[in-house]
Amino acid sequence: MARIPQHFIDELLARTDIVDLIDGRVPLKKKGSEYAACCPFHSEKTPSFYVVPDKQFYHCFGCGAHGTALSFLMEYDNMEFRDAVRELADAAGLEVPEDDDSGPGPDPDGALREALAHADQWFRQQLKQSSEAKAYLKGRGLSGRTAADFGLGYAPEGWSGLLDTAANEARRDALLATGMLIRNDRGRVYDRFRGRVMFPIRDTRGRTIAFGGRIIGEGEPKYLNSPEHPLFHKGQELYGLYEARQALRDIPRLLVVEGYMDVIALADAGIHWAVATLGTAATPDHLNKAFRTANEVVCCFDGDNAGRRAAWRALENALPVLRTGRELRFLFLPEGEDPDSMVHKEGREAFETRVASATTLSRWLRERLSEGLALDTAEGRAGLVARARPLLDKVRDEVYRSLLADELADAAGLAPERWAAMLAQGGERAGPKDAAARRQAQRPPRPALRLTPVREAIALILQAPPLAADIPDRAALARLDIKGVSTLSELIEQAGETELTTASLLERWRDRPEHPHLARLAAHPIPGDEDSRRERLLDIIRRLIGPRAVEARLEALLKRESESGLNAEEKSELKALYRARLEHQRTG
Ligand code: UTP
Ligand code: MN
Repeated sequence: MARIPQHFIDELLARTDIVDLIDGRVPLKKKGSEYAACCPFHSEKTPSFYVVPDKQFYHCFGCGAHGTALSFLMEYDNMEFRDAVRELADAAGLEVPEDDDSGPGPDPDGALREALAHADQWFRQQLKQSSEAKAYLKGRGLSGRTAADFGLGYAPEGWSGLLDTAANEARRDALLATGMLIRNDRGRVYDRFRGRVMFPIRDTRGRTIAFGGRIIGEGEPKYLNSPEHPLFHKGQELYGLYEARQALRDIPRLLVVEGYMDVIALADAGIHWAVATLGTAATPDHLNKAFRTANEVVCCFDGDNAGRRAAWRALENALPVLRTGRELRFLFLPEGEDPDSMVHKEGREAFETRVASATTLSRWLRERLSEGLALDTAEGRAGLVARARPLLDKVRDEVYRSLLADELADAAGLAPERWAAMLAQGGERAGPKDAAARRQAQRPPRPALRLTPVREAIALILQAPPLAADIPDRAALARLDIKGVSTLSELIEQAGETELTTASLLERWRDRPEHPHLARLAAHPIPGDEDSRRERLLDIIRRLIGPRAVEARLEALLKRESESGLNAEEKSELKALYRARLEHQRTG
């Protein structure tokens, strides 16, 4: 995949406020010019996690976690770099340029996309020509408008309808790679989808990445799906999300259902905010994706036992992604009904009423956990605590976890403190709560950072990039052969280019081996105010450049002083030069 251009990352960070971003997940309190909270990456009672708006950087004095807005999403939301970029871009209303496929270099996925787009067009054409398929959809109550919105198509009977449209080997290979064609043991190639209504599965930008196909009438399997391939990962896609975003500007609530036809029937009835998992239980990825779209997610299940089991799995998968501000609820339909049949039977309004009264997560948790327990006895309460502990451990968000714990304490008729004591009695919590915490725990204690002058200069530039503008004789610096100086020079060049924050400066180094060291230096506390830091930096640079450069500059400034006088800044530089000269004389 092509790289995301640096100027875009700069703009993205400039348009993002790390305080807002983090505050939406970990509520922050203002402390002077910074913001503080209890650290989300380790367990603590007093806040040592700080967000610094000037630097667009966060740092925990307790566990050493630190980074930019992008790092935060990667750590806290478990995102890949690219997804974190996309997330911020979405929020800032920017388009990630590399996604355009217009960037330089070949796009290895291009052929697959093109093959899928080709299949998509062909299936739609086939639907127009099949009175049987059209009658089937009509029989299921769908309007032509909805069928078009969802891009429905038809794969005709026969083994080679799609295969025959593959004009060349490359197209055929791409159709094979995306699972649209199958090659059997004897090397014969044929169409995967035959005699089925086709549901294109689209990514968030509306590009078809896979298909589901429903048999017309009876037959096995009822639904056939594309296999996973480089563009399609079942556990991550929500069917209908693109269409929902097309239909609605604002999506406060998402309904997660099981079937393609459920999503489509609901949309047809005017409920455009339903999405479906693709024949799997809702994964944490699914739920994260849903919560990035809407603050309220309602998962819909059959009222039978299988439905309740599926709901429980969804609940367990949701706990790690829940936090205050994200509400998860459960809607159980009468046995034998699904949203498709339900909305046809009782109409939009009645269905919406059901959704509005769906069970909250905490209520359902209370009910399920107390099943069969006599909460008016000590044993019953202990049982509830034992059942609750492993579930609470799955919740990563500290605030949410304590709210949920309070609710359960309430169910048991216990004061929150008493409940907390009982929870703690079971010994240590089962283990660190999440990957980030686990990494922290496994990490051996870091040796204290030894701050050589070069490292200190690097830290100063990283923490206050505008200082770069004050640095004299960069060329002399760049010529030095001292460990770390080339990094320092490069940082000074970058920081001098445009107005950069700590975060955008650091992001330029993300893929380079120096990145972890630089991130650590960016977080290293350096005492003093702005002026004393500037002095300190200039001092280090001068000492690095050495006596000759100092003498030359001194001379120039003294000459200027006698000719035209010095301004305040030059005067302070002069003082620093004298000090540097003294220092040189002292250290020889
Ligand atoms: P259902 O069996 O509940 O079907 O499967 P449905 O959605 O009610 O379908 P209709 O109304 O009979 O057309 C729910 C979902 O499970 C997956 C599909 O994603 C389907 O939408 N599924 C089901 C499969 O992947 N394969 C199957 O054979 C059946
Ligand atoms: Mn159905």
